[in-house]
Amino acid sequence: MLILIAGITGSMGTLLTYESLKRGHTMRGLGRDASRLSSDLKDKIEFVEYKNYHDEEALDRACLGCDAVICAYAMQSELQLEGQLFLLRAADRAGVKKFVADSWNGDYRTMSLGFQESYDPYIAFRAQSQLESKIKPIYMLTGCFAEVLLGTYHTNLESNPWKLEKGELRIWGTGNETMAASPMPDAAGWTIRVLEREDAEEGGDWFVYSFRTSYRELAKVYGDVTGNHIEIITEGSLEELSKVERRERAAGDKTQFWEYLGWTYLKNMHGGVFDSATDEHNAEFPPESRTSIEDFVKQQLRMQKS
Ligand SMILES: NC(=O)c1ccc[n+]([C@@H]2O[C@H](COP(=O)([O-])OP(=O)(O)OC[C@H]3O[C@@H](n4cnc5c(N)ncnc54)[C@H](OP(=O)(O)O)[C@@H]3O)[C@@H](O)[C@H]2O)c1
Repeated sequence: MLILIAGITGSMGTLLTYESLKRGHTMRGLGRDASRLSSDLKDKIEFVEYKNYHDEEALDRACLGCDAVICAYAMQSELQLEGQLFLLRAADRAGVKKFVADSWNGDYRTMSLGFQESYDPYIAFRAQSQLESKIKPIYMLTGCFAEVLLGTYHTNLESNPWKLEKGELRIWGTGNETMAASPMPDAAGWTIRVLEREDAEEGGDWFVYSFRTSYRELAKVYGDVTGNHIEIITEGSLEELSKVERRERAAGDKTQFWEYLGWTYLKNMHGGVFDSATDEHNAEFPPESRTSIEDFVKQQLRMQKS
């Protein structure tokens, strides 16, 4: 297949490209600056440069002749909604039938708008795409990125519970609430496998995750693997966390929602909201495509050392 990845210079974009090349596909990437492309991919893919996500001439050029399009844009509301719709329309014009929507997240289908603002554009895109396109997008509902749970990706939020420099994990409630989690390379691998299926044009939700875990279990595994004990500090109850979240939200500005959303994530993660994902489709993928929690922690440590 010829696969286009929009946002190919990003973290998921890069992993999706490695996986696609490994599985014998031809790759085209879309981005604003070719120099941001991972150096080991430069001579392996065709790169289409665009000025911005609404550069329709470049979007049409990028989609032309593609068998599948994957949207791997960053978590910015404008990109996830408007950017994604521009991409979907270009895919439609080019006659592309397989489209993976920006996803790889928890199951937001029962969440109302404003419950967790980062998911609002996903909800809106899903609804709008049904109103205007014949393409049936694929949604990968893979739970929380395990890297986010361990605090090794997107850790710039004040609410990040890991204080590894002090050997601490700061939890709320019992710390035993479980969450569905997937390392990013696993999520990338399943995405390409779904695209290779004969029924990929039918789109739909794919529920698959690598492991279920809690903050306490993750701290224990991390301690066992490194030999360094992680001290669990309890910050407060779940009710107290909800109070902090409400306070930060009330003081915040909705147009800058990332400034308080870390608290909403923490509340939802500790409160079991991300446990709602099912493993409905795990059996569709080979067991070796799912990394265990121990192997994940070992891989992360190896990456930190290299
Ligand atoms: N479940 C989880 O825990 C979790 C966590 C994080 C992300 N995710 C999912 O994974 C998806 C991909 O995230 P990621 O972390 O891989 O993204 P990322 O690396 O932050 O960014 C991906 C790409 O977005 C493009 N981009 C950024 N701003 C842009 C703009 N204004 N206009 C056009 N393009 C722009 C950039 O491409 P160029 O600069 O080359 O144009 C960038 O390489 C997210 O949308 C989200 O759905 C899930």
